[in-house]
This record gives sequence, structure tokens and C-alpha cells, in this order.
Amino acid sequence: MNVPLNPLLQRLQPYPFERLRALFSGITPNPAFSPINLGIGEPRHPTPPVLRDALHAAIERPDGGLAVYPATAGTPALRQACARWVQRRYGVALDPDTQVLPTLGSREALFALAQVVIDPRAFASGQQPIVVCPNPFYQIYEGAALLAGAQPWYAPSDPARNFAVDWEQVPAEVWARTRLLYACSPGNPTGAVMPLDEWERLFALSDRYGFVIASDECYSEIYFRDTPPLGALQAAAALGRTTFERLIVLTSLSKRSNAPGLRSGFVAGDAELIRAFTLYRTYHGSAMSVAVQQASAAAWEDEAHVQANRALYRKKFDRITPLLAQVLDVRLPDAGFYLWAGVPGGDDVAFARALYAQYNVTVLPGRYLARDVGGHNPGAGRVRLALVAELDECLQAADRIVRFVRAAAPIPTPPSCPNQP
Ligand SMILES: Cc1ncc(COP(=O)(O)O)c(C=O)c1O
Repeated sequence: MNVPLNPLLQRLQPYPFERLRALFSGITPNPAFSPINLGIGEPRHPTPPVLRDALHAAIERPDGGLAVYPATAGTPALRQACARWVQRRYGVALDPDTQVLPTLGSREALFALAQVVIDPRAFASGQQPIVVCPNPFYQIYEGAALLAGAQPWYAPSDPARNFAVDWEQVPAEVWARTRLLYACSPGNPTGAVMPLDEWERLFALSDRYGFVIASDECYSEIYFRDTPPLGALQAAAALGRTTFERLIVLTSLSKRSNAPGLRSGFVAGDAELIRAFTLYRTYHGSAMSVAVQQASAAAWEDEAHVQANRALYRKKFDRITPLLAQVLDVRLPDAGFYLWAGVPGGDDVAFARALYAQYNVTVLPGRYLARDVGGHNPGAGRVRLALVAELDECLQAADRIVRFVRAAAPIPTPPSCPNQP
């Protein structure tokens, strides 16, 4: 093609699902089994009536509906509903006019935020600014860094601490160039929740080096312990950081309310960042439809459906985790809807391929969710299982995985694994 395009597009990595498609190409899965997909983390419980009904009603309302251009900042009613939710959930008081901004889910906001924060000309020496992210991680962080003209830096994680990021291992010269840090708590893929002392360390680093922290919290409402996951706003408030300096939190209805198709979330935190983000989004054109805003406000105000949703996940994880623990290195995560399981033999790619071929179950090789650093890929040897389908289907999948591992002849390594980094 001769059209001159943004060369940074060439630096984007194939998305994990593209790599999975390439891995499975040419395989005809065993026709004795119906397909079960644990590869994609798309919520599949039904969207609750409280949200669906509000959306129907909103479309009919003359002041809502589809006949008006929405404002980038959203309606006061939605921002207030979001702030009330933060108050109930985290005990943190926000000013809905300056510290809250609706977004179209968290993915686009994670990406767009880098456009606001990163100045690609930041360093006269020609050094690129750095965006630090966990490893393994949600791939949007990397794409956001690359397209903003920054260099992603993959922070080492510690398998012995359930892949918690070891921030101490990030060198001072990296922090000195860091402009943005993505944290993910509860984490995808590990489900690990960051404790208060980890937040304290990160805030201290942000104070010293001046970088922005973007805290991705879209799994916060699906948890398996008695105490709900700590949020970054809550951690900041507990540490006396009441203006949330350089902190922005991203959350979403996709998982909390089983509404990935609604495209609704919000960001909250530092008023200066929110103001700049609102300006950026005015030009980007990412305002939320008023009808979607009205449905979203109804969803944020209701906790009954969230409790019911959590109960479904708890039941599922209680049943499935011990079954899989018979054959895989797996345990109940703190939160989220993934199991992050070590596979026998340690070859996640070969495991996923053979499981698909023999039992028609799709799982995601862990190395597709991480990057090689120093010749080591922290996702290697693990697979991510998204327990998003109904219980029966997940039970069937678990049963097949147990049979697969027990029956396993040594798993053959495919002759060439496409798209290995
Ligand atoms: C860690 C993480 N962040 C953000 C998202 C984006 O979700 P949404 O845009 O639906 O809010 C996902 C989706 O799977 C995710 O896993």
C-alpha cells in the first residue's frame, strides 16, 4: 500500500485472540465434543432487567433517547450516580462535577488517557517517555503507550506472590522517564488485588518522579473473599491523599453488570487530569449517548443485581477450582473471573493446542498475555481460563480438562508456533 500511514501502527502486537486463531488454524477439533470457549473474557451472564428496562425507557423519553447530542462530560445525573456508587463502595467522597467523567467502557479510556498524559517530545536527549505496565497484562496498555509515542516497560512480576508486580525492580532511570503507569487490580489474568502498602509504594514513586497512575479496576465487583477489593481511590484517601494527585481510576459496567455491549464506564480522580481528559474527549468525540447514560445511572444505583452476579461466580469458582486443582496448578483468585493455571509439562501453547484438538475446549496460552523480558516470558507455562459461561458448561469444560490431562500422552510441541514474539 502506498498510502502514508502512522508508522507507530506497525509497532502494535497481534492481539492474543489473533495469535490463538493462528495457533488453531488447520486443526479440526474432535467432533465428539461441542465447542467450549474459556479463551475470551467476555461476560456471559444475562444483562439484568434493571439495566435493560432503563435503556428501553430512556430511548422513549423526549429528553433522552437518540435525538440529542450528548455532552462529553455526561449528565449531572450520571456523574452523581457514579459518585454515589464510589461513596457507597469505597467510602470516598468525590465532587461529581470535577472528579468524575463517564467513558465508553474502560478500554477506550485506558487507551485515550495515554494521548492526554504523554508528551512524546518529553526528553530533549531524544529518549522516549516510558509507560510502565505489569507483565502479564491487558494488551491495551501496550498499544496505548506505543501509539502515544512512548516506550512500554514491562515491570517484573513475582510468580511466588501470585504475579504481584515487584516495583522495586524497576530501575531509577526507568522511573525518571516514566510518565504513566498502568496498574490493574484486581488483575487480569491473575485476579490478584493490590494491598494498601503496594499503593503506598506506588504513590511515593509517583510523588518522586511525577508520573500519572491509571488504575484499571474493571473486575472490582467479582470477588471471592469477605472483604471487597481495595480500590485506588480508597487507598489514596486512607493515606491522606484527598485530592488524588496524579491518580485516575477506571471502572466499567461490563463485568459488574454483565453489559459489555453497553459500552459504559467512568473515570474518577485528580480533577486536573479529568479536566484535560474532558477536553481531549470533546475532540475525540467519545460522549456517551444520553439513553446509555440513563441506563448506566440505573445500573450504578442498584447493587442487588451485582450481588446476584457475584453469587453466580462464587458458586462456579467453588465448584470448578477444586476439580481443576486435581490436574493443574491452580487456586481460587482474590477476584475477577479467570483462573490462571500452571499446566503440566510447562508448555502453555502446546497444552492449549492439544486440548482444543482433542476436547474442543479453548483456553488462552499465558505467554500470549505477557512479553519476553530478558529471555523469559512470565506467562509461559500457564493458561488463562475465563469462567464466563453458565455453570454446566464450565463443569463440562473442567471435566474434559481433567480427562485430557489424566490421559495425556506427553503433549507434542507443534512444529512451529505462529506469531511467537
Ligand atoms: C483488565 C481489563 N481492563 C479493561 C477491560 C475493558 O473492558 P471494558 O472496556 O468493557 O470496560 C478489560 C476487558 O476485558 C480488561 O480485562
